[in-house]
Amino acid sequence: MSELQPVMWKNNKLILLDQSRLPQEEKYMEITRHEQLIDAIKRLAVRGAPAIGVAAAYGAVTAAQEIKTNNLEEFKSELKSITRRIGASRPTAVNLTWAVERLENIAENAADIPGLKQDLLKEATNIHHEQIESDLRMAGIGAKLLKKGDTVLTHCNTGALATAGSGTALGIIKQAYSTGMITHVIATETRPLLQGSRLTAYELKKNGIPFHLITDSTAGALMKQGKINAVITGADRIAANGDTANKIGTYTLAVLAKEHRIPFYVAAPMSTVDIKIESGVEIEIEERPSYEVTSFQGVISSPEGINVYNPAFDVTPHDYISAIITERGIIREPYWS
Ligand code: MRU
Repeated sequence: MSELQPVMWKNNKLILLDQSRLPQEEKYMEITRHEQLIDAIKRLAVRGAPAIGVAAAYGAVTAAQEIKTNNLEEFKSELKSITRRIGASRPTAVNLTWAVERLENIAENAADIPGLKQDLLKEATNIHHEQIESDLRMAGIGAKLLKKGDTVLTHCNTGALATAGSGTALGIIKQAYSTGMITHVIATETRPLLQGSRLTAYELKKNGIPFHLITDSTAGALMKQGKINAVITGADRIAANGDTANKIGTYTLAVLAKEHRIPFYVAAPMSTVDIKIESGVEIEIEERPSYEVTSFQGVISSPEGINVYNPAFDVTPHDYISAIITERGIIREPYWS
């Protein structure tokens, strides 16, 4: 089955599938200015740690098309101020700054503007292809951790839409289903922006994989009934000691999994591992606007003027994680410390 393409480079332009409109509408947007990309990242039209890294890489190519000066040093300096802004558009997923820094290094070493533009596109394409490749490797490696007949629970969306490849946790699930290992998937709806019910359900349905969608608060009851054999999630940033930031609610699932003696796996490419930080305490957690919680698809669902706390991610301490699946293999304690 061909994968959804959330990020494409076509006719010298960046094209994004607007995920904020899914599942109602599969609408593609042409990105010709870096401000459009920053807006798309902020409002989650493109989302998922690896996919925003790939989009940001092509975004640097777009930025280079916008700059008018013929002076190399001025060009580099304007480009850097734009790529810095793209890199700062969301704070938690390290793939974003990781990709931007790769493009910045290319720019720094350039000797002329036409060559610089070509090299930026080459590097962005490399980042995209590396992601496709590492997703395929992770799928093969991670599927081996599952047993025949397993039902797997997953959170948020970690499929093709989230990586611009075949997915991390959901890539493993697709692979395990296609080889007859797992028979059933449980997808959490993932409040408040519903990446599970809008996007994971969409991908699972397109792939013909049997699944049930549950509210986030149903997970514990299913675990207690013995209906979940493994949990696999993605990650936005992993510290050297294995502490993992991922979509809000991941920590709750990890605690529940430990209580019920269910293996809890994280799947992520090495570009999500931030070995510069020792533990999860150092991870900045994005806080999102209150209206995402006080309204539902544009309809207000709470009294006006109330206090809201809306962190987009949480950190799961490494001792709740059974193993981290990367394209380089299965990593366990002490992880990268
Ligand atoms: O806010 P989002 O939708 O970008 O959050 C996405 C997640 O938390 C994913 O689990 C994570 O980025 C891994 S995607 C392979």
